[in-house]
Amino acid sequence: MPRLIFIDAAGARHDVEAESGLSVMQVARAHDLGIEGTCDGSLACATCHVIFEPKDALRLGVASPEEEDMLDLAVGVRPTSRLGCQILVTEELDGLTVHLPADH
Ligand code: FES
Repeated sequence: MPRLIFIDAAGARHDVEAESGLSVMQVARAHDLGIEGTCDGSLACATCHVIFEPKDALRLGVASPEEEDMLDLAVGVRPTSRLGCQILVTEELDGLTVHLPADH
């Protein structure tokens, strides 16, 4: 099972075994890491905003125009910001570091 490293809003690290096929948002929510995911992944909220590290951003592929539009509504967006509901866990993403912003 791929392992994801979440850094929560307080800066604490959480190493989590993640099931392939789930979204990063679903994994974070299942572990109660302070992500909302209000619309359940239907690209209608941006409460699943997460920030990746530059070294990881290239592993994720590019965001769709719809994801980009919704990201515009998130607070504190960075160049490596994405919506966690749009990133599906795969074996290739083992070791991915996911930062959870304080404000969504
Ligand atoms: Fe709403 Fe990701 S959960 S856009």
